[in-house]
Amino acid sequence: METIEALIHRRSCRKYSDRPVEAEKLARIIEAGQYAPSGMGRQPVTFVAVTDPATVERLSQLNAQVMGSNGDPFYGAKTVVVVLVDRNVPTHLEDGSLAMGNLLNAAYALGVDSCWIHRAHEVFDSPEGLELLASWSLPADGSLRGVGHCILAMPRTRYPSPNPAATTSST
Ligand SMILES: Cc1cc2nc3c(=O)[nH]c(=O)nc-3n(C[C@H](O)[C@H](O)[C@H](O)COP(=O)(O)O)c2cc1C
Repeated sequence: METIEALIHRRSCRKYSDRPVEAEKLARIIEAGQYAPSGMGRQPVTFVAVTDPATVERLSQLNAQVMGSNGDPFYGAKTVVVVLVDRNVPTHLEDGSLAMGNLLNAAYALGVDSCWIHRAHEVFDSPEGLELLASWSLPADGSLRGVGHCILAMPRTRYPSPNPAATTSST
């Protein structure tokens, strides 16, 4: 897909099919994030791809908790890329946001639906969020700041399935 077309036509999607995002596409989307520019090229961004259902559920619960709700802020998406930044780097927020943008645009270019889900800051400053960081072998000393969750899923089928009755021939 042409770059400008992807940038113009990408939209946030909140209803998906249950088809999983292929591992190759997920890897490619994260690679696009890793190539985002960063202040002085310091590259302070960490990406965590989460596909384990129990951990996606945990992230969703922690996110909902920040809002005081018990809904699913991930809209049922089964793949989440958590974007974290080293807050000791002066441009950490700008760098993390650019990386998030790359993820969203790359996903669209690869035919994967996405949406930025907020509240990563609150989630990863909480004791439960710090516990998750430790379980991912990441620093849980407060140096990492959550920027966002990029939820990913395959689009719903855009066309209705063929009606079997309409294709049955009679003799
Ligand atoms: C910083 C940021 C935070 C966002 N947080 C959420 C969110 O928590 N939940 C959600 O459904 N969409 C969220 N979005 C998506 C925006 O609602 C969406 O990008 C905006 O409405 C424009 O729509 P578009 O992405 O289809 O162009 C967020 C977007 C940004 C940039």
